[in-house]
Amino acid sequence: MLGGSPSLREILFSVRNLSKTFPGTGYNEGGFRALSGLNLNIFAGECLLVAGSNGSGKTVFMKILAALMDLSGGEVLFRGLPLEKAVPRLRRELGLVFQDADAQIIGETVVEDVAFGPKNLGASGSTLEERVNRALESMGLSAKRDFSSRDLSGGEKRRLAVAGILAMGCEIIILDEPFANLDYFGVIQVLELIRDQKKQGKTLIVLTHELEKVLAFADRLLILDRGILRDDGKPEEVLDRLLPEYGIRDPRQSYRSAGDCTWLPV
Ligand SMILES: Nc1ncnc2c1ncn2[C@@H]1O[C@H](COP(=O)(O)OP(=O)(O)OP(=O)(O)O)[C@@H](O)[C@H]1O
Ligand SMILES: [Mg+2]
Repeated sequence: MLGGSPSLREILFSVRNLSKTFPGTGYNEGGFRALSGLNLNIFAGECLLVAGSNGSGKTVFMKILAALMDLSGGEVLFRGLPLEKAVPRLRRELGLVFQDADAQIIGETVVEDVAFGPKNLGASGSTLEERVNRALESMGLSAKRDFSSRDLSGGEKRRLAVAGILAMGCEIIILDEPFANLDYFGVIQVLELIRDQKKQGKTLIVLTHELEKVLAFADRLLILDRGILRDDGKPEEVLDRLLPEYGIRDPRQSYRSAGDCTWLPV
């Protein structure tokens, strides 16, 4: 890549026959298959939406991409390297917002929490301060900067997690159920983040079943159902093929087209 915006066809993640099985009693023989035979590439600069009902494997998939969970079969390459060899680069380039906002809090205060990531990446002095302030501002947390992180409300904790990855300036952002717990303004702020990061050429992977909030920004829609990748393609086409058993509501029931499916004008 020669400067400028990244080519859409540059492969970031290459997922081949990926499976994840959890051992344990109470499961079927051979354990419980949370993911079965997933095959896909994830390209630089795309906004990928992963939809699926509760327990379909979205979070497990995210954890494996982020090298936070081992896989049971197949392989995942990051920029052509097996994940285990790519971990240092992955840690620099990938920002995650977990489904469980509490699990992500590191800093004692709001400002310390947001500063943690960029500090780790080597930012300091006025650069660090500026990045942290901008991230707090854009997530509406400036007034709470000196609050104890643990004392924030559920929605504020989620905003805090988003502010943290904004401040890091990651190339790739994975958001796991980013709208859960958020009020109207919180949803708008996350959508603005998605829109702005996308404009900057960042790669976004959004895991959600709340398609109506964000579909307009998606270049591609994946449907996970009981650990199987049922569909992968342009949002409008995937929705046309949607089967009721996937447990996903077609948001076009309330909107005229996939391009209308957001609370934020595009
Ligand atoms: N550590 C684990 N041990 C055993 N089973 C697990 C573990 N983690 C996840 N699972 C199982 O794997 C399946 C997929 O879980 P996952 O968290 O990926 O679902 P999800 O699609 O993110 O659901 P939700 O919409 O509720 O967030 C679930 O049935 C879950 O019980
Ligand atoms: Mg989940």
